[in-house]
Amino acid sequence: MSRLDSAIRRLTAQRDCLAAALETAPAGALLEIGLGNGRTYDHLREIAATRDIWVIDREMNAHPSSAPPSAFFLQGEAEAMLDDLFGRIGQGVALAHYDLGVGVPEHDVPLRAALAEHIGRLLVPGGLLVANGAFEGMEQLPLPEGVAEGRYFIHRA
Ligand SMILES: C[S@@+](CC[C@H](N)C(=O)[O-])C[C@H]1O[C@@H](n2cnc3c(N)ncnc32)[C@H](O)[C@@H]1O
Repeated sequence: MSRLDSAIRRLTAQRDCLAAALETAPAGALLEIGLGNGRTYDHLREIAATRDIWVIDREMNAHPSSAPPSAFFLQGEAEAMLDDLFGRIGQGVALAHYDLGVGVPEHDVPLRAALAEHIGRLLVPGGLLVANGAFEGMEQLPLPEGVAEGRYFIHRA
């Protein structure tokens, strides 16, 4: 499979997993971990217009049309910003989307392990973590129809 085909399938899986997770997510805020260009943030605010959406990134590189309000953007390293958010809202996140990593397991697996507890304590009971990689030790939920095993992940707190 070409990298283009692979990217298309991953993005489709990401969109479908976010939609499925939102259907069952409890009350609470959303959290986008890794703003990047802002594509997913823009999608989240479209499908969850009534919820607060917090966003973390070490840089602001979003397209101007997809930049979150400054009051909801936490700029800095993920671990510190997750703890900053916990200080603001405590256990208040119903659905988090994790999109950090470079696609290399030697880098990405330890990063997820280092951040797991910092994300987990933000999640309300039954809160969901949709991620581009598996978080060891967290319960994984079934994927929506059409999403291949291992392409994207939905975890429950
Ligand atoms: C793949 S991009 C996110 C794409 C975005 N979710 C979207 O759909 O447009 C990853 C982003 O994570 C940020 N990032 C990577 N590692 C980080 C870390 N340890 N702390 C904070 N931000 C980080 C990068 O600056 C980059 O903007």
